[in-house]
Amino acid sequence: MERQQWSSKLGFILAAVGAAVGLGNIWKFPYTMGTNGGFIFLIFYLICIFLIGMPALVSELILGRRNQANAVASMRKEYPDKPFYATAGWFGLITALLVLGFYVVVAGWAGYYTFAAITGKLDFSNVENAKTFFDNFKLDNVKPLIWLSMFLLLNITILIGGVKDGIEKASKILMPGLFVILIMLIFRSLTLDGASEGVKYMFKPDFSQFTFKTVLASLGQAFFTLSIGMGTMITYGSYLRKEDDIIESSIHIITWDTVIALLSGLAIFPAVFALGFSPTEGPGLTFITIPAVLSSIPGGTLFGILFFFSLTVAALTSSMSIYEVLVAYFTETFNIKRSFVIVGVGIVLAILGTIVSSTLGVPLFGNSDLFDTLGIITDYFLMPLGGLIMVFSVGWSMKKSEYIKELGDTKFVNVLYFLSRYVAPTIIVIFFVCGVLDLFHII
Ligand code: PHE
Repeated sequence: MERQQWSSKLGFILAAVGAAVGLGNIWKFPYTMGTNGGFIFLIFYLICIFLIGMPALVSELILGRRNQANAVASMRKEYPDKPFYATAGWFGLITALLVLGFYVVVAGWAGYYTFAAITGKLDFSNVENAKTFFDNFKLDNVKPLIWLSMFLLLNITILIGGVKDGIEKASKILMPGLFVILIMLIFRSLTLDGASEGVKYMFKPDFSQFTFKTVLASLGQAFFTLSIGMGTMITYGSYLRKEDDIIESSIHIITWDTVIALLSGLAIFPAVFALGFSPTEGPGLTFITIPAVLSSIPGGTLFGILFFFSLTVAALTSSMSIYEVLVAYFTETFNIKRSFVIVGVGIVLAILGTIVSSTLGVPLFGNSDLFDTLGIITDYFLMPLGGLIMVFSVGWSMKKSEYIKELGDTKFVNVLYFLSRYVAPTIIVIFFVCGVLDLFHII
């Protein structure tokens, strides 16, 4: 079977930006920042993005393009005499499954909120009402399950369309709109009374907030938001053509991803403070704050529809990319028809998502329910470790001449190689060890 490819440079960039920009930017970034000390988290997050994210992203794309195969097979082909490296590919498959387990639940919430906005249900007189509405919906026995199933069906339909006609076309249409809507929301949020406190929270240092867990959270968030450390970018890279420019695409991905996360913070935090609300609310932050803001403005319903629709779309272009990691692996390894694999994986995900959603609030480890636990395992452990192996393998086991052959011999490429070889692996290890020790209260 001939391998599929992206049809154009723009097509790939949009699909890859679409994979990166998702719930991680609009839902996870604000609440993770809010529960990890605001500005201080932001600083570490940006360090991770540029010193680790950039070399790791480029490494994954090279691994995929050179080997034209799924994550596991790419690692095997690239390093035939170092079977250990393939563990990163295996980690990737497990991570993809676990991440999707909670991703489809939150995406389902976004879908329902779009519907609720259209039917005028998101009009709240105060923040308490918004919170009650969210809690009631989230804990309902049926509604969240219906919405997560619909979201899965949407994924299945697009993925069956394939790389070019499915993922690429959808991203091209859906991504640009999101940006415009966020700008409109920021404008509203910043003009609320008391909004400046939120801006201060985002950009004014308060070092008393620092803990080593902040460092681990920023590392995990950087991996999650850039879609690295689980083989997504290896898989997407494997559909790249030789003439595509990996550096240029990576810069697009990093820039847009960071900009959208910051914009989303600017849409949310000023409103959080203006409405007398706490930034430490956790996973409900976006779902409570935004409707509460919208209720306070004329035309709020329309903004609400647009916002939650674009959140659903952003989630869709990301979830498809995670899904594709599994699809590429199973179709290529066992030579099964693509559509069978897509439906099979979909059934597993529907079951997993149902379990995650139905056990919300039921403690599993300490105070964490399954939903939180999946987030912790993937963010704090699997993605940093998978990413470490991938970037380390490129820095130490791929010849520099090969690296340069893929990317060109520019100063920037040399810096990237240096980052992949020394800086990124070292920082990942330090942040990881300190963070884990803090997580278990050892330091
Ligand atoms: N980056 C996506 C987001 O921010 C999530 C994702 C993680 C996608 C890992 C692919 C792989 O929502």
